[in-house]
Amino acid sequence: MEDVLAEKVLITDLSRFRRVVDLRTSESVGLPSGHISREELKKIPAGGSFEVRDKRYYVLPCDMHDFVMEGLKRNTQIVYPKDSGYILLKLDIFPGKKIAEAGTGSGAMTAIFSRAVGSEGRVYSYEQDIGLINHAVKNLKLDAGDSNVVIHHQSLEQGIHEQDLDAFFLDVREPWKLLGEVYGCLKPGGHLGVLVPTTNQVSRALLAFNNWDFLVTEVAETFLRTYKPVPARLRPMDRMIGHTSYLIFARKMQPDTIRRAAVRVVPAPEGEDDVILPENGDQDGRED
Ligand SMILES: C[S@@+](CC[C@H](N)C(=O)[O-])C[C@H]1O[C@@H](n2cnc3c(N)ncnc32)[C@H](O)[C@@H]1O
Repeated sequence: MEDVLAEKVLITDLSRFRRVVDLRTSESVGLPSGHISREELKKIPAGGSFEVRDKRYYVLPCDMHDFVMEGLKRNTQIVYPKDSGYILLKLDIFPGKKIAEAGTGSGAMTAIFSRAVGSEGRVYSYEQDIGLINHAVKNLKLDAGDSNVVIHHQSLEQGIHEQDLDAFFLDVREPWKLLGEVYGCLKPGGHLGVLVPTTNQVSRALLAFNNWDFLVTEVAETFLRTYKPVPARLRPMDRMIGHTSYLIFARKMQPDTIRRAAVRVVPAPEGEDDVILPENGDQDGRED
């Protein structure tokens, strides 16, 4: 993947205004107090500042956080930085790893994975929607020369081409349908991360994990509260991102190694989810 951060700068007024500008393409940049031309912007060194009508703006080289939050065009929900950093750690992604994900979406997680695995690693990204693939290719400039990202235009239900992958990340609506395919392509001990936005989906996925030799190691939700950096009146920002998603992490185990708790299924009426209870337990999971 071309360095998506190359020739990009972040302009900020240290308040609400934050914009990523590509110095190769943007003609003139709109600001809350006016405009600055690309030629003028290019003259400002990294870490410098400028003023337009008495308002000061700061110029910084664009980093991956800036790119994901301000620089990337979103056509889908993306994985937010508060989650993506934790996902990298939990899936143990580092240079040289061979990993896969579904779906590509806007490519936010793909960009982060690509940088983490480096030139010796590979990111195989599955996406069923060709419009979204074209969008992500543009976002990540994937058609420009050598790339460590391979995008497959297909639904994951149609199969996975790779074998012995180090990790897999599922960010799709119905991940529970795909656990068998993912189990088959991971190394023993390989990592799986699943991201879903609702608790119903977490429950559904956890039930499906019972059918495969995955060890579920964690169900998690992350919170990030940022602060106004004012020493004399230190306090949290008024607004925060309250909810993004739930994360499930699991490891591929050898066949038949997991001892499972016995459960019984109470069938639900049409349109509702079945109720799953522990054998000999009540609705709260307490034992009799
Ligand atoms: C929320 S978006 C992924 C966002 C992406 N992780 C990012 O950070 O930009 C979910 C994507 O999964 C794709 N998708 C859903 N089910 C799929 C499947 N079974 N196989 C392949 N792609 C799928 C959708 O088309 C959509 O683009």
